[in-house]
Amino acid sequence: MEELTQLDELLSCRNDGVGRDVTPCSIVIFGASGDLTSRKLIPALYHLFCGGQLPNPVRIVGVARREKSDESWRHELKEALGRFSRSKGFDEKVWSEFEKLISYCRGDLTDPDSYDALKDQLESFGDPQLSKNLLFYLAVSPSQFAEVVKRLHEHGMVHKDAQEEHWQRVVIEKPFGHDLASAQELNRGITDYLHEKQVFRIDHYLGKETVQNILAFRFSNAIFEGLWNRQSIDHIQITVSEKLGVGTRGGYYEEAGALRDMVQNHLLQVLALVGMEPPGSLDAEAIRDEKVKLLQSIRPLSPEDISKQVVRAQYFGGEIDGESRPAYRSEDKVSPSSNVETFVALKVLIDNWRWSGVPFYLRTGKNLPLSASEIRVQFRPVPNVLFAANPEANVDANSLVLRLQPNEGICLGFNGKVPGNSSRLDPVLMDFRYDTVFGAYTPEAYERLLLEAVAGDSTLFIRRDEVETAWAFVDSIRHAWEGRALSNREFYSAGTWGPEAADQLLSASGHQWVNPKK
Ligand code: BG6
Repeated sequence: MEELTQLDELLSCRNDGVGRDVTPCSIVIFGASGDLTSRKLIPALYHLFCGGQLPNPVRIVGVARREKSDESWRHELKEALGRFSRSKGFDEKVWSEFEKLISYCRGDLTDPDSYDALKDQLESFGDPQLSKNLLFYLAVSPSQFAEVVKRLHEHGMVHKDAQEEHWQRVVIEKPFGHDLASAQELNRGITDYLHEKQVFRIDHYLGKETVQNILAFRFSNAIFEGLWNRQSIDHIQITVSEKLGVGTRGGYYEEAGALRDMVQNHLLQVLALVGMEPPGSLDAEAIRDEKVKLLQSIRPLSPEDISKQVVRAQYFGGEIDGESRPAYRSEDKVSPSSNVETFVALKVLIDNWRWSGVPFYLRTGKNLPLSASEIRVQFRPVPNVLFAANPEANVDANSLVLRLQPNEGICLGFNGKVPGNSSRLDPVLMDFRYDTVFGAYTPEAYERLLLEAVAGDSTLFIRRDEVETAWAFVDSIRHAWEGRALSNREFYSAGTWGPEAADQLLSASGHQWVNPKK
């Protein structure tokens, strides 16, 4: 009992993000002119500043190739903040304080002089903490990750064995490699110059409140954790659906596809959190050890399993909410004969004591009827004894739905007697919504992730063995698809829940997708 209370306290402490040990530092963003910087990183830093959560003092330096002054970059960022900040605006007075922390450094990532210029700029701040405690954020093309780290090392800005009083960390955006071999190579390249504990690989899903709540929910509620196993659970569905098509990202998507873009990272991360064993502590390594163990317990898929257990498909034209959508093959920067998948559904089996025989169904796709991410835990049905003879009984198996986004919340489905003289039963729902209990405030994932990286806590980042295990699984599927053109059955209309084969994947085991509700 005492142990549980302690765990609760620790969980809520982590979730509050209070008590972080944040020391003065400079945050250097490589890729300062990119979309990620103006849409996500600067708004996130601005909100952390508003909440008094950034270290004091702190500096933010943007590095990019374009010629810009500090003023013109600040102006651009201010304009973008007005459009993209979660608070839909900003406070002029706070901004004028915040912008004083921001400066720009023109630089070409392949040019050694640029690194000298950056170092000079950091030293010009006149405080050793601001020039030696450094968080580098690599929001650049993946092909440049290893080179930037190497050059930072050569210019004395990152040290593998940092002097104890200073620290340097590198945050790396996704995609981390495009297969196992490239991820391993990148890992080798980076860890020549950095210890693993200095590397923060991003999966922005881990920064989402509701994704963090999966562990809090599982391990602070004895009534659910007691049922979280093969004895009580029939199967689990994880859906991450997106209403948008690939839009302007056709070029990137042609190289990625849904399997690399979503399954390798976000879906497998959610799966790991739903399925992992309780960690020995809330320490980053204890949690990540358990996630890796879960990922390593996924049953490998033979080519024959893949043909039965993995469904891929691509959208053709259709309509969503009265708006017409082009076929994927007609999107900008997409080959008219592309075989890239925009939808994946798969059945995953986990060979461990807890989950043996329980299917986990994962699906994700673009141009689906709505954007929603949720986990549906479908419990086993009651024995067909008591109510079997009652035609009025309408007994559903219990379900628990964790809505990750939107309408963040948790919903428990059970059966109740309809009041009156009949013995009619009906399924009913008990629904918890974050916004009604905690208010509408939901910080952006990047706020939490940046704060954790500044504080040096890597719990919400992907460890080397995690990323490699996920790639090994995804590679086996890619290899089976290689050189195989999409068949007629591997298409779906925009605005539908994917191809028929995705339904058959479940019906083959007597299951059925339950789609998220609007
Ligand atoms: C990104 C993918 O990692 O996640 C995108 O590259 C996808 O294709 C996005 O749209 C989804 O994230 P979210 O937070 O909108 O669910």
